[in-house]
Amino acid sequence: QFMNEIMGLNVLEKQLRETLQIKDVIVVPGNSDEHDWVKQELGKACVAYLKRVVTDDSSIAVTGGTTMAAVASVMTPLERAANYLFVPARGGIGEKVENQANTIAAEMARKSNGEYRLLYVPDPISETSYQSIINEPSINEVLQLIKGASVVLHGIGDALTMASRRKTPESILTDLQKKKAVSEAFGYYFDQDGTVVHKVRTVGIQLEDLETIEYVITVAGGKSKGQAIASYFKQGKSDLLITDEAAAMEILRDY
Ligand code: BG6
Repeated sequence: QFMNEIMGLNVLEKQLRETLQIKDVIVVPGNSDEHDWVKQELGKACVAYLKRVVTDDSSIAVTGGTTMAAVASVMTPLERAANYLFVPARGGIGEKVENQANTIAAEMARKSNGEYRLLYVPDPISETSYQSIINEPSINEVLQLIKGASVVLHGIGDALTMASRRKTPESILTDLQKKKAVSEAFGYYFDQDGTVVHKVRTVGIQLEDLETIEYVITVAGGKSKGQAIASYFKQGKSDLLITDEAAAMEILRDY
């Protein structure tokens, strides 16, 4: 029974690697829509992987969300490395404090005895403020650390769920519906083909920055996120997807 279970997950991992064209996939049992412990399992898998790839003096950029908060809750010291630093990947993008990247970066640092730097920027931010704020020395220093991160940990959300969670103006909500937005990551909204249909203006990692980052680790699970995950992986850069059984089955069913 137990072996069957394990072998089943291996099969899902292999199928996902092939269909989504990702180097590495980890599938944990369960459905994180239904049970919080499944998010923690995603978190444990993420922490274990992070331990393998992190090196001395690396900066690790993290996004917000309940999944990343679960990763933070199971974080432990990254024994094989020294002087690592956690930074938020982007400005807060409208999340509640406990789900903001700043809060999560600080919590990861606390649990791992690492360092952290935070980004204090309003968001979304106007074009004029954006131009002046990125030249502010204290902001610019953190921005350099973010852009130079060797690891990025990020979540993926269902587009409309994220838009309403962020109290997005009605006009933008309508536009997202019209453009058939399916997923959201890093404040970018993507349609079914992975094309960007909308973007929240904020300071930090931009999609094109991911190309030069050594390890982009995606953590997202739950049956309700199946379509969103598939949409992000049509074009988005990631080296590892950590997901759950329910999301995996949903992705493979629709492909
Ligand atoms: C947000 C990230 O905070 O969390 C998003 O900025 C991501 O990019 C989202 O899509 C995922 O949230 P959750 O709660 O589903 O893990």
